[in-house]
Amino acid sequence: MPPPVAAGMEQPPALEMASLAEKYRPYFAVGAAVDPQAFDTHGKLLKTHFNSITTENAMKFESLQPTEGQFDFGRADAMVSSAKAQNMKVRGHALVWHRQTPDWVFVDAEGKPASKQLLRGRLESHISQVVEHFKGSVYAWDVVNEAIVNDGTYRSDQEKEDIDKSRWHGIMGKSYIAAAFRLAHAIDPQAKLFYNDYYNYIPEKRQAIYRMLKSLLADGVPVHGVGLQAHLSIHSSPEPTHHGHFQTMGNLESAIELYVSLGLEVQVTELDVSVYLPGVKYAPEQYFTTESFGAKLREEQAKRYGELFALLRKHHRAITGVTFWGIADDNTWLSEFDSKRTDFPLLFDKQHRPKAAFQAVMGF
Ligand code: XIL
Repeated sequence: MPPPVAAGMEQPPALEMASLAEKYRPYFAVGAAVDPQAFDTHGKLLKTHFNSITTENAMKFESLQPTEGQFDFGRADAMVSSAKAQNMKVRGHALVWHRQTPDWVFVDAEGKPASKQLLRGRLESHISQVVEHFKGSVYAWDVVNEAIVNDGTYRSDQEKEDIDKSRWHGIMGKSYIAAAFRLAHAIDPQAKLFYNDYYNYIPEKRQAIYRMLKSLLADGVPVHGVGLQAHLSIHSSPEPTHHGHFQTMGNLESAIELYVSLGLEVQVTELDVSVYLPGVKYAPEQYFTTESFGAKLREEQAKRYGELFALLRKHHRAITGVTFWGIADDNTWLSEFDSKRTDFPLLFDKQHRPKAAFQAVMGF
């Protein structure tokens, strides 16, 4: 591995660097989540370093069908056509999720909770129309996103916070999961169908996901892969308040091996490495800035990225894609919620220059 590059040191512009996607061609596709502007604002980075995209929000339920029966494919189509023009693959994200799904989906004409049949019909109509529309363009779908919570139980409508509740489960029970995979497969038998979730490093959670997938497969449900979101932190040992579990490479490897033992492929679908500890509240004066995200932290981040990619290369036969949740640090969802709580989770900085983390991922 080349020595890490210190903060502020002159670095050649990203375009003169070797290509990330080319370097990883023997291993897996390298993707990035994109917003509708990304091909303009981050066009050069996208073209040079990535050969796959996921639309960050544009294929979510609320974006595609904000009102019942009225589909709006415009933004997603534009990104798909930019990707195609550059020979990039497209992942679809996500058909069924408890978030970013409009309220109308879950209520009937009188405003009462939808019946199981009504919801099942809406699931069917959404999946059929969306998968049909992108057939031949989207090679892999996150069919169901985040159906299991951290303690290993099914996400239900009983979760503490409203934002965490699943009305899909509340109305249909876990039957929505198998139904979604079967519907998607019936429409596009070529598409690879993924179950996608976060915190796979928590043992109870990955065991529960494993049991769920095993039983789906035993019932003949067409599931082809598991997506590991991989919203990680620089720190591998979060405070015990954070579920008491560690984001170690060992825990991630156990998750990969468990899913692979079912004959499934694995993708990393939403990678970023935050400078903050997950689940920990920081006071505004503790927020990192471009200045305080200094050499030491950059090197820690580089080390973490380096270890992760070594693990991913080791398992490259099972891993078919690794997608970053963003392109450069000027455009990350982690800085979206509170504009002052800036995060620096990606391989390229706000000026689109490669960071130490980029060197670590390339240096093998
Ligand atoms: C995030 C987007 O990046 C944000 O722009 C949006 O405001 C919220 O959703 N897990 C997922 C992604 O599966 O869809 C989420 O994307 C990040 C967490």
